[in-house]
Amino acid sequence: MSLTTRMPGSAGIGLRLPHLEEAVVTPLSVGWLEIHPENFVANPHATELLIELSGRYPISVHTVGLSVGSASGIDRHHLARVTALIDRLDPVLVSGHLAWSTHKSEYLNDLLPLPYDEQTLQLVAGQLLDVQDAIGRPFLLENPSSYVGFTGSTMTEVQFLGELVARTGARLLCDVSNVFLSGHNMGYDPVAYLDAFPASAVAELHLGGFTPEPDEATPGRDILIDTHAERVADPVWALYAHARRRFGAVPTLIEWDADIPSLSTLVEEARHADRLAQLATAHEVTDVAR
Ligand SMILES: [Fe+2]
Repeated sequence: MSLTTRMPGSAGIGLRLPHLEEAVVTPLSVGWLEIHPENFVANPHATELLIELSGRYPISVHTVGLSVGSASGIDRHHLARVTALIDRLDPVLVSGHLAWSTHKSEYLNDLLPLPYDEQTLQLVAGQLLDVQDAIGRPFLLENPSSYVGFTGSTMTEVQFLGELVARTGARLLCDVSNVFLSGHNMGYDPVAYLDAFPASAVAELHLGGFTPEPDEATPGRDILIDTHAERVADPVWALYAHARRRFGAVPTLIEWDADIPSLSTLVEEARHADRLAQLATAHEVTDVAR
């Protein structure tokens, strides 16, 4: 069975704890819900509500603390807790970031970048295989939001992700907003990035808001910060239309993690993604306005 056979065509939303009780009592016109397991593994009441919701909506589990790029190995205790939740929920998709956020017993509240070279490839591939072995299903790896690169990298991010897919059987989560803001910050063409992305491995798309901030190193220039604190920006919607033409009917998620709006605003964003996806499959989209 393909990864997304159980996934409806409509876009989903990231379900955050402030909306959990409302979501239980309010029918939502969205296709599916994505959760961060870190919000639930130590919260039995929230987990019970989530189990109830999993009877009504397909659920995707998106880890933010697994740190598959950690040089000191993945946190086995955390992996066991996430796996126990996955076993209860039977989610349609399980995903996480190409990044690291832990080193030995240190936990950093950030998703940090990796050099793209053979040594890192072997490290991440080995840890990805361990994760997939534990959870008993393919793991979707998400392209990061980038602010710096490594001069020692010997391959592009897209080549690195493609190699990981080839070596592990992992699938990819293409965060279209990350492609846009990383292209802006790092100086590459986001359309060319999407065109080189391994399309056959893409099993999910993300869309989230970013926040421009002055670049202290370059006066007069902004860098784009992946805050997930805004609506999806118009240029990202245009890039999303391109992504849908390239990747097809891949499940799409609206992410919003800070300054969280009303649940109805999230649903509106998901419906807009559905409208654009329909238009994008028919013709070139020139007007992305809501
Ligand atoms: Fe994302």
